[in-house]
Amino acid sequence: MKSTVTEEDTVPQHVCIIMDGNGRWAKKRLMPRTFGHRKGVEITRRSIEFFARAGVKYLTLFAFSSENWNRPQDEVSTLMELFIQSLKENSAELNDKNIRIRFIGDREAFPQALQDQIAESEALTADKHLMKLNIAANYGGQWDILNAVKTIASRVTKGELTVKQIDQQLVASALSLADTPDPDLFIRTGGEQRVSNFLLWQLAYTELYFTEVLWPDFSEQEMQKALTVYSRRQRRYGKTLEQMET
Ligand code: FPP
Repeated sequence: MKSTVTEEDTVPQHVCIIMDGNGRWAKKRLMPRTFGHRKGVEITRRSIEFFARAGVKYLTLFAFSSENWNRPQDEVSTLMELFIQSLKENSAELNDKNIRIRFIGDREAFPQALQDQIAESEALTADKHLMKLNIAANYGGQWDILNAVKTIASRVTKGELTVKQIDQQLVASALSLADTPDPDLFIRTGGEQRVSNFLLWQLAYTELYFTEVLWPDFSEQEMQKALTVYSRRQRRYGKTLEQMET
C-alpha cells in the first residue's frame, strides 16, 4: 500500500512502537500465546516495510522488555527461537532494502545462538542507511539511564569530566540511542495507555498514539492512520501557539 502522507515535514523522522496484544489476539482464537507471537512477527515485517516506504528514517521496536523474562518458560523460549529464525530469514532482505538493523538492550542474557545471530545481522547491514531499525530487546528505559549515569560517573572519577560539564546533551550521548534523534511518534497497540519503561529519556516531547487494535491486527491502514493523526498534531515543545507561528 502506498503511503498517502508524503510531505516531508509531516512524516515523523523517528517512530517507536510498543507492539502489544499478541497474547490476547491468540486467546480470542483459542490458540496458544505463541501463535499470536508468530503472527506478530509477520506484522513486524510488514510494519518495517511500511514505515521505510513512508519515509520514516528511524524505527525503534520494543520486542522484549527486561520484565518479559517473568513469562512462562516455554513462551520465553519460543520468543528466543522466533527472534533467531526471523533474523535468519529477513536479514538479507533488510540489507537489500538498505535498512540497518541494530539491537539495544542487555543482549548478554540471551542464548549464545541469538547473540551470534544479532551480531551477524548487525554486521551485514552496518552500512545501510535508508532507514535505521532499532530492536529493543531485554531493554528498559531505567536500565538505559542507569548505564548512562554510571558511564558519566566513572568519567568524572577518572578526572576526564567535571560535574559542571554534565548537561542534557552529555546524558543523551551516553544512552543506547546516542546518535538518533528523539522519537517524534510513539505508537502503542493493544489498548494499554502506558509507556512501560520504554525510551524514558527520549520520549520527553514525543507525540503519543494509543490504539485498541492488537498488534497482529495492526494493518497497513492502521499504520497509515497513526501517521495521519500525527500529521495533524501541533508540536509546541513547551512554547505558545503564537511563538510557534513567528
Ligand atoms: C506483546 O504481546 C509482544 C511481545 C512481548 C513480543 C513482541 C515480539 C514480537 C511481535 C515479535 C517481534 C519480532 C522481531 C524479530 C523483532 P503480549 O504477549 O504482551 O500480548 P498480550 O498483552 O495480549 O498478552
